[in-house]
Amino acid sequence: METLERVRITVRVNGKLYTHEVEPRLLLVHYIRDYLGLTGTHIGCDTSNCGACTVILNGRAVKSCTLYAFMADGGEILTIEGLEKDGKLHPIQEAFWENHALQCGFCTPGMIMTLYDFLQRNPKPNEEEVRRAIEGNLCRCTGYQNIVKAALWAAERMRGGGGGR
Ligand code: FES
Ligand code: FES
Repeated sequence: METLERVRITVRVNGKLYTHEVEPRLLLVHYIRDYLGLTGTHIGCDTSNCGACTVILNGRAVKSCTLYAFMADGGEILTIEGLEKDGKLHPIQEAFWENHALQCGFCTPGMIMTLYDFLQRNPKPNEEEVRRAIEGNLCRCTGYQNIVKAALWAAERMRGGGGGR
């Protein structure tokens, strides 16, 4: 069997530098899960529909099943595992906790990473804007009400308020 030529990639993931030789066809989501063991990034569809695989690449939310790993070469990636700092949850993680914004939790990492990007660009969103922002993320448990509530709570907390409590 013919073996595919491998390419060397170097990426910084959650602040740590990694170099690997990978097949050119390796998807970024498989690289993150299988090479780095960061299984908080989920695979829900593999067809760009569900958003479960969303990570931050060079500052923007991307569906990591839509990119090849080599396309991230030289880049900076943030996954759900990188959000917690010194044992303290990120305000968006805290918001999901406080607002019961998850049921099975499968969509949660992708939702949080999408909102992480969105709230940086729109720190004071209204409900409609939040709903539009998470359009590309499917929650099969249909827990959207509380996810939206959590996003608004997180936005307030990140602006220095006390959250929606
Ligand atoms: S696994 Fe990437 S969008 Fe569903
Ligand atoms: S909480 Fe189950 S898919 Fe969203």
